[in-house]
Amino acid sequence: MKTVAIVGSQWGDEGKGKVIDFLATQADVVIRAQGGNNAGHTIVVDGKKFALRLIPSGILNPNTINVIGNGIVFDPKGFFEELEMLQSNGIDTKNIKISDRAHIIFPYHKELDGLAEEARGDNKIGTTKRGIGPCYMDKTERSGIRICDLMDKDVFAKKLKGQVEAKNKLVKGVYDKEEDMFNFDEIYSEFMAYAEKLRPFVADTTVIVYDAIKAGKKVLFEGAQGTLLDLDLGTYPFVTSSHPISGGFAVGAGVGPNMIKDVVGIVKAYTTRVGEGPFVTELDNEIGEEIRIKGCEFGTVTGRSRRCGWFDAVIVRYAARVNGLTSISLMLLDVLTGFDKIQVCTAYKMGDKIIKDFPASLEDLAKCEPIYEELEGWTEDITSVERFEDLPENAKKYIARIEELIGVNVDLVSVGPNRAQTIIRKNVFDN
Ligand code: GDP
Ligand code: IMO
Ligand code: MG
Repeated sequence: MKTVAIVGSQWGDEGKGKVIDFLATQADVVIRAQGGNNAGHTIVVDGKKFALRLIPSGILNPNTINVIGNGIVFDPKGFFEELEMLQSNGIDTKNIKISDRAHIIFPYHKELDGLAEEARGDNKIGTTKRGIGPCYMDKTERSGIRICDLMDKDVFAKKLKGQVEAKNKLVKGVYDKEEDMFNFDEIYSEFMAYAEKLRPFVADTTVIVYDAIKAGKKVLFEGAQGTLLDLDLGTYPFVTSSHPISGGFAVGAGVGPNMIKDVVGIVKAYTTRVGEGPFVTELDNEIGEEIRIKGCEFGTVTGRSRRCGWFDAVIVRYAARVNGLTSISLMLLDVLTGFDKIQVCTAYKMGDKIIKDFPASLEDLAKCEPIYEELEGWTEDITSVERFEDLPENAKKYIARIEELIGVNVDLVSVGPNRAQTIIRKNVFDN
């Protein structure tokens, strides 16, 4: 079986889009199984940059089928904007399939996302305000509206009417709005226009993915967000509302867990996070600022500046365990060039206790101090290195130490944003 899950192993933005695009040149199917257009996956090919949110990162390969799976929360407006962006760049978009089971994000979900954040005040999560949480709330509450509903105008009208009424009651009752905020007719006509444009893309994608796997085709599961943003295993409540871990992909793609063979952890050579919540190795100083500038660490979706810190082996060890990582792709190694010394956090200290396993309690996490090991840096420009052997000795030592601390091999090293700036030690599809 040639199926590989690509998982964010930190707080998202590890470079998943780049790896998917790189591997998609060999893949038959790429499937997104969770999240929505809160994701921002950057691909750079021959210096040209594409920022994808909802459409899978295999789209630049005309022969790859790109699937938006049942676990996705689907924003039609965002989808068509992205589609037009790709088409205006001459990209062939005919190979996109959208699950008839995916839930739809409506304007009220986006408004409610903003209102909930406002109401949280100092405890805000720092969401992307794309309506992700409120849409998944409707899904779990069992009042969500799915793509298959949108395909039937009567079913859709009935369900939407009920939801618009419910959401108007909610904003008046909970958020003290005096007037109705949402208008059925407006939303209905906007979405009926999407329905006809969407119809050619809609399919039972579980069949497409199953048949491809059974036929021995190469299938990539494209994770969005990252392990520490997982609803169960992340830094709750500062998480997203889906399951970005490998286990979530089986549910969100509609395949059995035994159909995902390898799990590649996408790992930044340091750590970043957007949004709120504790971050043990955060560097709120000139080193953090240097990493931010060198790594262009500003959000693809919201433009917010990302918080930066040293590599945290406690986090990545945890990610290796909860995802069952079989391989690591180490990203943005070039950003560490020029630092005299590089710190790696090997464990935490909480009072007089040494913590090696990532804690559940955020109160505990906030009390943790990083225990650092210092490694020698390198000054050579590595952005055009093509073979692992040609990396500076200290860069190789850094990678070897990470492998030792995590217990998983680094099979891919990324030394720049371009597709070509990728060093392969072992091809994942050769397993
Ligand atoms: P994703 O959400 O995991 O797909 O990651 P993002 O695209 O949000 O963020 C990763 C950023 O790093 C993007 O701007 C990429 O173009 C960039 N990038 C990826 N790999 C490398 C690398 O090896 N070196 C550098 N300098 N940038 C990289
Ligand atoms: P990619 O796929 C980084 C963060 C938000 C916020 C929290 C909840 O590009 O790695 P949400 O809008 O999902 O309810 O926000 O999750 N977040 C991400 N951070 N990368 C992402 O995606 C993210 N998607 C959501 O910043 O802290
Ligand atoms: Mg991103």
